[in-house]
Amino acid sequence: ETGNVTLDVGFVNTASCQSEITYIDGDAGILRYRGYPIDELAEKSTFIEVSYLLIYGELPTAEQLDAFRSRISRHTMLHEDLKDLLAAFPRDAHPMSVLSAAVSALGTFYQDSLSIKDPDQIELSTIRLMAKLPTIAAYAHKKSQGQPLLYPDNSLNLVENFLRMTFGFPAEPYDVDPTIAKALDMLFILHADHEQNCSTSTVRLVGSAQAHLFASISAGIHALSGPLHGGANSAVLEMLGEIHESGDDVETFMNKVKNKEDGVKLMGFGHRVYKNYDPRAAIAKKFAHEVMEKMGVDDPLLDIAIRLEEIALKDDYFVSRKLYPNVDFYTGLIYKAMGFPTEMFTVLFAIGRLPGWIAQWREMIEDPATKIGRPRQIYVGETERHFTEMDAR
Ligand code: SDX
Repeated sequence: ETGNVTLDVGFVNTASCQSEITYIDGDAGILRYRGYPIDELAEKSTFIEVSYLLIYGELPTAEQLDAFRSRISRHTMLHEDLKDLLAAFPRDAHPMSVLSAAVSALGTFYQDSLSIKDPDQIELSTIRLMAKLPTIAAYAHKKSQGQPLLYPDNSLNLVENFLRMTFGFPAEPYDVDPTIAKALDMLFILHADHEQNCSTSTVRLVGSAQAHLFASISAGIHALSGPLHGGANSAVLEMLGEIHESGDDVETFMNKVKNKEDGVKLMGFGHRVYKNYDPRAAIAKKFAHEVMEKMGVDDPLLDIAIRLEEIALKDDYFVSRKLYPNVDFYTGLIYKAMGFPTEMFTVLFAIGRLPGWIAQWREMIEDPATKIGRPRQIYVGETERHFTEMDAR
Protein backbone atom coordinates (compact mmCIF):
# COMPACT_ATOMS: atom_id res chain seq x y z
CA GLU A 1 0.00 0.00 0.00
CA THR A 2 2.90 2.40 -0.57
CA GLY A 3 3.88 4.29 -3.72
CA ASN A 4 2.25 3.77 -7.05
CA VAL A 5 0.11 0.72 -7.41
CA THR A 6 0.77 -1.18 -10.63
CA LEU A 7 -1.99 -3.44 -11.78
CA ASP A 8 -1.53 -6.46 -14.01
CA VAL A 9 -4.77 -5.92 -15.86
CA GLY A 10 -5.64 -8.88 -18.00
CA PHE A 11 -8.85 -7.38 -19.30
CA VAL A 12 -9.94 -3.77 -19.36
CA ASN A 13 -13.70 -3.46 -19.59
CA THR A 14 -14.43 -0.91 -22.32
CA ALA A 15 -17.58 1.14 -22.38
CA SER A 16 -20.01 -0.55 -24.72
CA CYS A 17 -23.71 -0.54 -25.49
CA GLN A 18 -26.33 -2.59 -27.32
CA SER A 19 -27.81 -1.36 -30.57
CA GLU A 20 -30.04 -2.51 -33.44
CA ILE A 21 -28.55 -0.18 -36.02
CA THR A 22 -25.22 -1.39 -37.44
CA TYR A 23 -23.50 -4.75 -37.39
CA ILE A 24 -19.77 -5.17 -38.03
CA ASP A 25 -17.79 -8.41 -38.14
CA GLY A 26 -14.21 -7.12 -38.12
CA ASP A 27 -12.62 -10.44 -39.00
CA ALA A 28 -14.99 -11.29 -41.83
CA GLY A 29 -15.10 -7.73 -43.18
CA ILE A 30 -18.89 -7.53 -42.81
CA LEU A 31 -20.81 -4.24 -42.43
CA ARG A 32 -24.65 -4.12 -42.38
CA TYR A 33 -27.03 -1.21 -41.73
CA ARG A 34 -30.23 -2.52 -40.09
CA GLY A 35 -29.30 -5.97 -41.51
CA TYR A 36 -28.67 -4.85 -45.11
CA PRO A 37 -25.10 -5.49 -46.43
CA ILE A 38 -23.18 -2.31 -47.27
CA ASP A 39 -22.31 -3.46 -50.80
CA GLU A 40 -26.00 -3.95 -51.68
CA LEU A 41 -26.93 -0.54 -50.29
CA ALA A 42 -24.00 1.19 -52.04
CA GLU A 43 -24.99 -0.40 -55.34
CA LYS A 44 -28.80 -0.20 -55.20
CA SER A 45 -29.87 2.51 -52.75
CA THR A 46 -29.46 6.27 -52.33
CA PHE A 47 -28.11 8.31 -49.43
CA ILE A 48 -31.53 9.75 -48.56
CA GLU A 49 -33.07 6.25 -48.55
CA VAL A 50 -30.23 4.84 -46.41
CA SER A 51 -30.62 7.81 -44.03
CA TYR A 52 -34.30 6.91 -43.64
CA LEU A 53 -33.37 3.25 -43.06
CA LEU A 54 -30.84 4.12 -40.34
CA ILE A 55 -33.05 6.64 -38.55
CA TYR A 56 -36.43 4.85 -38.73
CA GLY A 57 -35.27 1.22 -38.97
CA GLU A 58 -36.90 0.13 -42.25
CA LEU A 59 -36.46 0.84 -45.97
CA PRO A 60 -39.15 3.45 -46.81
CA THR A 61 -42.10 2.98 -49.15
CA ALA A 62 -42.23 5.45 -52.05
CA GLU A 63 -44.69 7.61 -50.12
CA GLN A 64 -42.57 7.58 -46.97
CA LEU A 65 -39.46 8.50 -48.93
CA ASP A 66 -41.23 11.35 -50.75
CA ALA A 67 -42.54 12.70 -47.44
CA PHE A 68 -39.07 12.47 -45.86
CA ARG A 69 -37.46 14.20 -48.83
CA SER A 70 -40.06 16.95 -48.88
CA ARG A 71 -39.80 17.57 -45.11
CA ILE A 72 -36.03 17.95 -45.51
CA SER A 73 -36.30 20.25 -48.53
CA ARG A 74 -38.45 22.67 -46.52
CA HIS A 75 -35.58 23.21 -44.06
CA THR A 76 -32.47 23.52 -46.26
CA MET A 77 -32.17 27.29 -45.75
CA LEU A 78 -30.40 28.79 -42.72
CA HIS A 79 -31.68 31.54 -40.44
CA GLU A 80 -30.35 34.77 -42.00
CA ASP A 81 -28.64 35.73 -38.70
CA LEU A 82 -26.80 32.38 -38.71
CA LYS A 83 -25.29 33.46 -42.01
CA ASP A 84 -23.94 36.54 -40.19
CA LEU A 85 -22.32 34.21 -37.66
CA LEU A 86 -20.71 32.24 -40.48
CA ALA A 87 -19.57 35.52 -42.09
CA ALA A 88 -17.73 36.44 -38.87
CA PHE A 89 -15.37 33.45 -39.07
CA PRO A 90 -11.88 34.13 -40.46
CA ARG A 91 -11.53 33.09 -44.10
CA ASP A 92 -8.91 30.46 -43.23
CA ALA A 93 -11.07 28.88 -40.50
CA HIS A 94 -11.02 25.09 -40.88
CA PRO A 95 -14.44 24.05 -42.21
CA MET A 96 -14.77 21.37 -39.51
CA SER A 97 -14.53 24.13 -36.86
CA VAL A 98 -17.13 26.16 -38.77
CA LEU A 99 -19.38 23.10 -39.05
CA SER A 100 -19.28 22.23 -35.33
CA ALA A 101 -19.77 25.86 -34.29
CA ALA A 102 -22.69 26.36 -36.69
CA VAL A 103 -24.38 23.11 -35.60
CA SER A 104 -23.99 24.15 -31.99
CA ALA A 105 -25.51 27.54 -32.89
CA LEU A 106 -28.56 25.76 -34.40
CA GLY A 107 -29.50 25.11 -30.77
CA THR A 108 -29.82 28.88 -30.23
CA PHE A 109 -31.75 29.65 -33.44
CA TYR A 110 -34.18 26.72 -33.23
CA GLN A 111 -35.15 26.58 -29.57
CA ASP A 112 -38.49 25.02 -30.51
CA SER A 113 -36.74 21.70 -31.19
CA LEU A 114 -34.48 21.12 -28.20
CA SER A 115 -36.66 18.74 -26.22
CA ILE A 116 -35.30 15.23 -25.77
CA LYS A 117 -38.74 14.04 -24.60
CA ASP A 118 -41.16 15.48 -27.20
CA PRO A 119 -41.17 13.16 -30.27
CA ASP A 120 -42.27 16.04 -32.55
CA GLN A 121 -39.30 18.17 -31.45
CA ILE A 122 -36.91 15.20 -31.86
CA GLU A 123 -38.27 14.74 -35.38
CA LEU A 124 -37.99 18.47 -36.14
CA SER A 125 -34.34 18.63 -34.99
CA THR A 126 -33.63 15.47 -37.02
CA ILE A 127 -35.05 17.02 -40.19
CA ARG A 128 -33.38 20.39 -39.58
CA LEU A 129 -29.95 18.76 -39.21
CA MET A 130 -30.35 16.54 -42.28
CA ALA A 131 -31.43 19.61 -44.26
CA LYS A 132 -29.03 22.22 -42.96
CA LEU A 133 -25.71 20.41 -42.54
CA PRO A 134 -25.06 20.29 -46.32
CA THR A 135 -25.96 24.00 -46.56
CA ILE A 136 -23.61 24.90 -43.69
CA ALA A 137 -20.86 22.76 -45.26
CA ALA A 138 -21.26 24.48 -48.63
CA TYR A 139 -21.23 27.89 -46.96
CA ALA A 140 -18.03 26.99 -45.08
CA HIS A 141 -16.39 26.18 -48.41
CA LYS A 142 -17.67 29.35 -50.10
CA LYS A 143 -16.43 31.41 -47.16
CA SER A 144 -12.94 29.91 -47.52
CA GLN A 145 -12.95 30.82 -51.22
CA GLY A 146 -14.23 34.37 -50.65
CA GLN A 147 -17.12 33.55 -52.97
CA PRO A 148 -20.82 34.49 -52.65
CA LEU A 149 -23.16 32.01 -51.01
CA LEU A 150 -25.91 30.34 -53.02
CA TYR A 151 -29.34 29.66 -51.57
CA PRO A 152 -30.50 26.02 -51.79
CA ASP A 153 -32.50 24.99 -54.89
CA ASN A 154 -35.08 22.51 -53.68
CA SER A 155 -35.82 21.20 -57.15
CA LEU A 156 -32.56 19.28 -56.66
CA ASN A 157 -32.03 16.31 -54.33
CA LEU A 158 -29.88 16.60 -51.19
CA VAL A 159 -26.58 15.66 -52.87
CA GLU A 160 -27.21 17.70 -56.04
CA ASN A 161 -28.21 20.70 -53.91
CA PHE A 162 -24.99 20.41 -51.91
CA LEU A 163 -22.86 20.22 -55.08
CA ARG A 164 -24.57 23.25 -56.59
CA MET A 165 -24.19 25.34 -53.38
CA THR A 166 -20.52 24.27 -53.15
CA PHE A 167 -19.39 24.71 -56.74
CA GLY A 168 -22.06 26.95 -58.30
CA PHE A 169 -22.10 30.74 -58.73
CA PRO A 170 -25.08 33.14 -58.56
CA ALA A 171 -24.13 34.61 -61.93
CA GLU A 172 -24.46 31.45 -63.96
CA PRO A 173 -26.42 28.20 -64.14
CA TYR A 174 -24.77 25.12 -62.60
CA ASP A 175 -25.38 21.71 -64.16
CA VAL A 176 -24.77 18.91 -61.69
CA ASP A 177 -22.46 16.26 -63.17
CA PRO A 178 -24.41 12.98 -62.73
CA THR A 179 -21.17 11.01 -62.34
CA ILE A 180 -20.05 13.16 -59.42
CA ALA A 181 -23.53 13.19 -57.87
CA LYS A 182 -23.83 9.40 -58.04
CA ALA A 183 -20.31 8.86 -56.68
CA LEU A 184 -20.80 11.33 -53.83
CA ASP A 185 -24.17 9.80 -52.99
CA MET A 186 -22.50 6.38 -52.80
CA LEU A 187 -19.64 7.70 -50.65
CA PHE A 188 -22.14 9.24 -48.23
CA ILE A 189 -23.77 5.78 -47.98
CA LEU A 190 -20.39 4.20 -47.17
CA HIS A 191 -19.90 6.69 -44.31
CA ALA A 192 -23.46 6.73 -42.97
CA ASP A 193 -22.88 4.72 -39.81
CA HIS A 194 -20.26 2.54 -38.24
CA GLU A 195 -21.32 1.26 -34.84
CA GLN A 196 -19.53 2.76 -31.83
CA ASN A 197 -16.66 4.64 -33.51
CA CYS A 198 -15.11 7.58 -31.71
CA SER A 199 -17.50 10.27 -32.97
CA THR A 200 -20.65 8.15 -32.58
CA SER A 201 -19.69 7.21 -29.04
CA THR A 202 -19.14 10.93 -28.40
CA VAL A 203 -22.64 11.73 -29.69
CA ARG A 204 -24.10 9.02 -27.46
CA LEU A 205 -22.12 10.04 -24.41
CA VAL A 206 -23.05 13.73 -24.70
CA GLY A 207 -26.66 12.77 -25.42
CA SER A 208 -26.73 10.40 -22.44
CA ALA A 209 -26.60 13.52 -20.21
CA GLN A 210 -29.85 14.56 -21.98
CA ALA A 211 -28.05 17.25 -23.98
CA HIS A 212 -30.11 18.13 -27.07
CA LEU A 213 -29.40 16.73 -30.52
CA PHE A 214 -27.63 19.83 -31.89
CA ALA A 215 -25.18 19.85 -28.95
CA SER A 216 -24.53 16.11 -29.26
CA ILE A 217 -23.90 16.28 -33.03
CA SER A 218 -21.62 19.31 -32.62
CA ALA A 219 -19.51 17.26 -30.17
CA GLY A 220 -19.43 14.36 -32.65
CA ILE A 221 -18.14 16.69 -35.38
CA HIS A 222 -15.26 17.73 -33.15
CA ALA A 223 -14.39 14.08 -32.47
CA LEU A 224 -14.51 13.27 -36.18
CA SER A 225 -12.02 16.05 -36.98
CA GLY A 226 -9.16 14.12 -35.35
CA PRO A 227 -6.58 12.80 -37.89
CA LEU A 228 -6.79 9.28 -36.42
CA HIS A 229 -10.55 9.28 -37.12
CA GLY A 230 -12.38 11.27 -39.77
CA GLY A 231 -9.41 13.54 -40.42
CA ALA A 232 -7.55 10.56 -41.90
CA ASN A 233 -8.99 11.10 -45.40
CA SER A 234 -7.25 14.49 -45.58
CA ALA A 235 -4.11 13.05 -43.98
CA VAL A 236 -3.96 10.34 -46.68
CA LEU A 237 -3.86 12.98 -49.45
CA GLU A 238 -1.18 14.93 -47.58
CA MET A 239 0.85 11.70 -47.20
CA LEU A 240 0.50 10.77 -50.90
CA GLY A 241 1.37 14.34 -51.90
CA GLU A 242 4.51 14.32 -49.73
CA ILE A 243 5.66 11.02 -51.25
CA HIS A 244 5.04 12.42 -54.74
CA GLU A 245 6.86 15.70 -54.06
CA SER A 246 9.77 14.00 -52.27
CA GLY A 247 10.52 11.95 -55.35
CA ASP A 248 11.12 9.06 -52.92
CA ASP A 249 10.10 5.70 -54.20
CA VAL A 250 7.27 4.10 -52.29
CA GLU A 251 9.56 1.50 -50.74
CA THR A 252 11.62 4.26 -49.06
CA PHE A 253 8.47 5.69 -47.48
CA MET A 254 7.30 2.25 -46.34
CA ASN A 255 10.63 1.71 -44.62
CA LYS A 256 10.12 4.99 -42.74
CA VAL A 257 6.73 3.68 -41.60
CA LYS A 258 8.17 0.34 -40.51
CA ASN A 259 11.01 2.06 -38.66
CA LYS A 260 8.43 4.40 -37.14
CA GLU A 261 10.58 7.37 -38.16
CA ASP A 262 9.09 10.53 -36.58
CA GLY A 263 5.99 8.48 -35.67
CA VAL A 264 4.98 8.38 -39.35
CA LYS A 265 1.99 6.11 -40.04
CA LEU A 266 0.50 4.76 -43.23
CA MET A 267 -2.60 6.95 -43.09
CA GLY A 268 -5.76 5.27 -44.34
CA PHE A 269 -4.49 1.92 -43.09
CA GLY A 270 -5.47 -0.01 -39.98
CA HIS A 271 -8.68 -0.14 -38.02
CA ARG A 272 -9.71 -0.74 -34.44
CA VAL A 273 -12.31 -3.31 -35.57
CA TYR A 274 -11.56 -4.51 -39.11
CA LYS A 275 -8.63 -6.89 -38.79
CA ASN A 276 -9.06 -8.31 -42.26
CA TYR A 277 -10.34 -5.70 -44.68
CA ASP A 278 -12.73 -2.75 -44.54
CA PRO A 279 -15.50 -3.55 -47.05
CA ARG A 280 -15.96 0.17 -47.65
CA ALA A 281 -12.36 0.51 -48.84
CA ALA A 282 -12.91 -2.14 -51.52
CA ILE A 283 -16.01 -0.32 -52.81
CA ALA A 284 -14.28 3.09 -52.70
CA LYS A 285 -11.24 1.71 -54.58
CA LYS A 286 -13.47 0.43 -57.39
CA PHE A 287 -15.24 3.78 -57.57
CA ALA A 288 -11.99 5.74 -57.54
CA HIS A 289 -11.05 4.20 -60.87
CA GLU A 290 -14.54 4.72 -62.34
CA VAL A 291 -14.85 8.37 -61.25
CA MET A 292 -11.36 9.32 -62.44
CA GLU A 293 -11.83 7.56 -65.76
CA LYS A 294 -15.19 9.27 -66.38
CA MET A 295 -13.74 12.63 -65.41
CA GLY A 296 -10.59 12.11 -67.43
CA VAL A 297 -8.49 12.61 -64.29
CA ASP A 298 -5.08 10.94 -64.35
CA ASP A 299 -3.81 11.44 -60.82
CA PRO A 300 -0.30 10.11 -60.07
CA LEU A 301 -1.33 9.95 -56.39
CA LEU A 302 -3.72 7.10 -57.25
CA ASP A 303 -0.80 5.11 -58.67
CA ILE A 304 1.15 5.76 -55.47
CA ALA A 305 -1.84 4.64 -53.36
CA ILE A 306 -2.20 1.41 -55.36
CA ARG A 307 1.55 0.76 -55.02
CA LEU A 308 1.43 1.37 -51.24
CA GLU A 309 -1.45 -1.09 -50.93
CA GLU A 310 0.34 -3.71 -53.04
CA ILE A 311 3.43 -3.51 -50.82
CA ALA A 312 1.49 -3.45 -47.53
CA LEU A 313 -0.60 -6.49 -48.43
CA LYS A 314 2.57 -8.55 -48.93
CA ASP A 315 4.82 -7.08 -46.21
CA ASP A 316 4.89 -8.97 -42.92
CA TYR A 317 5.10 -5.74 -40.89
CA PHE A 318 1.61 -4.79 -42.04
CA VAL A 319 0.18 -8.29 -42.38
CA SER A 320 1.31 -9.30 -38.87
CA ARG A 321 -0.33 -6.16 -37.47
CA LYS A 322 -3.48 -6.76 -39.54
CA LEU A 323 -3.16 -3.41 -41.26
CA TYR A 324 -5.36 -3.12 -44.34
CA PRO A 325 -6.80 -0.13 -46.18
CA ASN A 326 -9.71 1.48 -44.35
CA VAL A 327 -12.52 3.64 -45.72
CA ASP A 328 -10.26 6.71 -45.79
CA PHE A 329 -7.53 5.32 -48.01
CA TYR A 330 -9.22 5.92 -51.38
CA THR A 331 -12.02 8.35 -50.61
CA GLY A 332 -9.76 11.41 -50.48
CA LEU A 333 -8.55 10.72 -54.03
CA ILE A 334 -12.15 10.65 -55.24
CA TYR A 335 -13.02 13.88 -53.42
CA LYS A 336 -9.94 15.52 -54.97
CA ALA A 337 -10.99 14.35 -58.44
CA MET A 338 -14.42 15.89 -57.78
CA GLY A 339 -12.79 19.25 -57.10
CA PHE A 340 -13.04 19.45 -53.30
CA PRO A 341 -10.08 21.00 -51.45
CA THR A 342 -8.39 18.69 -48.89
CA GLU A 343 -9.78 20.54 -45.86
CA MET A 344 -13.32 19.74 -47.03
CA PHE A 345 -12.77 15.95 -47.04
CA THR A 346 -13.66 15.43 -43.38
CA VAL A 347 -16.66 17.71 -43.80
CA LEU A 348 -17.88 15.26 -46.46
CA PHE A 349 -17.35 12.44 -43.97
CA ALA A 350 -19.52 14.36 -41.46
CA ILE A 351 -22.36 14.84 -43.97
CA GLY A 352 -22.30 11.10 -44.67
CA ARG A 353 -22.12 10.14 -40.97
CA LEU A 354 -24.91 12.46 -39.85
CA PRO A 355 -27.83 10.00 -40.27
CA GLY A 356 -25.87 7.40 -38.27
CA TRP A 357 -25.16 9.86 -35.47
CA ILE A 358 -28.84 10.89 -35.40
CA ALA A 359 -30.05 7.27 -35.44
CA GLN A 360 -27.72 6.28 -32.61
CA TRP A 361 -28.67 9.35 -30.51
CA ARG A 362 -32.39 8.67 -31.01
CA GLU A 363 -31.95 4.99 -30.14
CA MET A 364 -30.18 5.93 -26.92
CA ILE A 365 -32.78 8.59 -26.00
CA GLU A 366 -35.70 6.24 -26.80
CA ASP A 367 -34.18 3.16 -25.11
CA PRO A 368 -31.99 3.93 -22.10
CA ALA A 369 -30.91 0.25 -22.13
CA THR A 370 -28.75 1.18 -25.15
CA LYS A 371 -26.91 3.90 -23.23
CA ILE A 372 -23.15 3.75 -23.03
CA GLY A 373 -22.50 3.22 -19.32
CA ARG A 374 -20.50 5.78 -17.41
CA PRO A 375 -16.93 4.71 -18.26
CA ARG A 376 -14.88 3.63 -15.21
CA GLN A 377 -11.07 3.55 -14.89
CA ILE A 378 -8.26 1.46 -13.43
CA TYR A 379 -6.72 3.79 -10.82
CA VAL A 380 -2.91 3.54 -10.94
CA GLY A 381 -2.01 6.72 -9.07
CA GLU A 382 -0.73 7.38 -5.53
CA THR A 383 -2.17 5.51 -2.59
CA GLU A 384 -3.61 7.67 0.21
CA ARG A 385 -1.25 10.34 1.55
CA HIS A 386 -1.67 13.43 3.76
CA PHE A 387 -1.28 17.18 3.19
CA THR A 388 2.17 18.64 3.97
CA GLU A 389 2.75 22.28 4.90
CA MET A 390 4.84 24.42 2.55
CA ASP A 391 7.99 24.43 4.75
CA ALA A 392 7.86 20.63 4.87
CA ARG A 393 7.80 20.09 1.08
C1 SDX B 1 -11.87 5.75 -39.18
O1 SDX B 1 -13.89 3.21 -35.48
C2 SDX B 1 -14.29 3.37 -36.65
O2 SDX B 1 -15.16 2.70 -37.13
C3 SDX B 1 -13.65 4.49 -37.41
C4 SDX B 1 -14.09 4.62 -38.85
C5 SDX B 1 -15.53 5.02 -38.95
O3 SDX B 1 -16.16 4.70 -39.97
O4 SDX B 1 -16.02 5.73 -38.06
O5 SDX B 1 -13.91 3.40 -39.52
C6 SDX B 1 -13.30 5.72 -39.57
O6 SDX B 1 -11.53 6.45 -38.27
C7 SDX B 1 -10.92 4.84 -39.91
C8 SDX B 1 -9.46 4.94 -39.33
C9 SDX B 1 -8.81 6.17 -39.94
N1 SDX B 1 -7.49 6.42 -39.33
C10 SDX B 1 -6.36 6.23 -40.00
O7 SDX B 1 -6.30 5.77 -41.13
C11 SDX B 1 -5.11 6.68 -39.24
C12 SDX B 1 -4.03 5.61 -39.36
N2 SDX B 1 -4.47 4.41 -38.64
C13 SDX B 1 -4.19 4.34 -37.27
O8 SDX B 1 -3.73 5.33 -36.52
C14 SDX B 1 -4.62 3.08 -36.57
O9 SDX B 1 -4.57 2.04 -37.47
C15 SDX B 1 -5.99 3.13 -35.93
C16 SDX B 1 -6.04 4.16 -34.87
C17 SDX B 1 -7.03 3.39 -36.95
C18 SDX B 1 -6.24 1.75 -35.33
O10 SDX B 1 -5.22 1.46 -34.47
P1 SDX B 1 -5.21 0.01 -33.76
O11 SDX B 1 -5.81 -1.03 -34.61
O12 SDX B 1 -5.77 0.19 -32.39
O13 SDX B 1 -3.70 -0.33 -33.72
P2 SDX B 1 -2.71 0.21 -32.62
O14 SDX B 1 -2.78 1.72 -32.61
O15 SDX B 1 -2.95 -0.53 -31.35
O16 SDX B 1 -1.33 -0.23 -33.27
C19 SDX B 1 -1.01 -1.64 -33.38
C20 SDX B 1 0.31 -1.69 -34.14
C21 SDX B 1 1.32 -0.67 -33.61
O17 SDX B 1 2.61 -1.16 -33.92
P3 SDX B 1 3.45 -1.88 -32.70
O18 SDX B 1 3.43 -0.90 -31.54
O19 SDX B 1 2.70 -3.16 -32.40
O20 SDX B 1 4.83 -2.09 -33.29
O21 SDX B 1 0.06 -1.32 -35.51
C22 SDX B 1 0.76 -0.15 -35.82
C23 SDX B 1 1.06 0.54 -34.49
O22 SDX B 1 2.22 1.37 -34.61
N3 SDX B 1 -0.10 0.65 -36.66
C24 SDX B 1 0.30 1.29 -37.75
C25 SDX B 1 -0.84 1.90 -38.27
N4 SDX B 1 -1.90 1.61 -37.49
C26 SDX B 1 -1.44 0.85 -36.48
N5 SDX B 1 1.53 1.39 -38.31
C27 SDX B 1 1.59 2.13 -39.46
N6 SDX B 1 0.53 2.74 -40.03
C28 SDX B 1 -0.69 2.64 -39.46
N7 SDX B 1 -1.75 3.25 -40.04
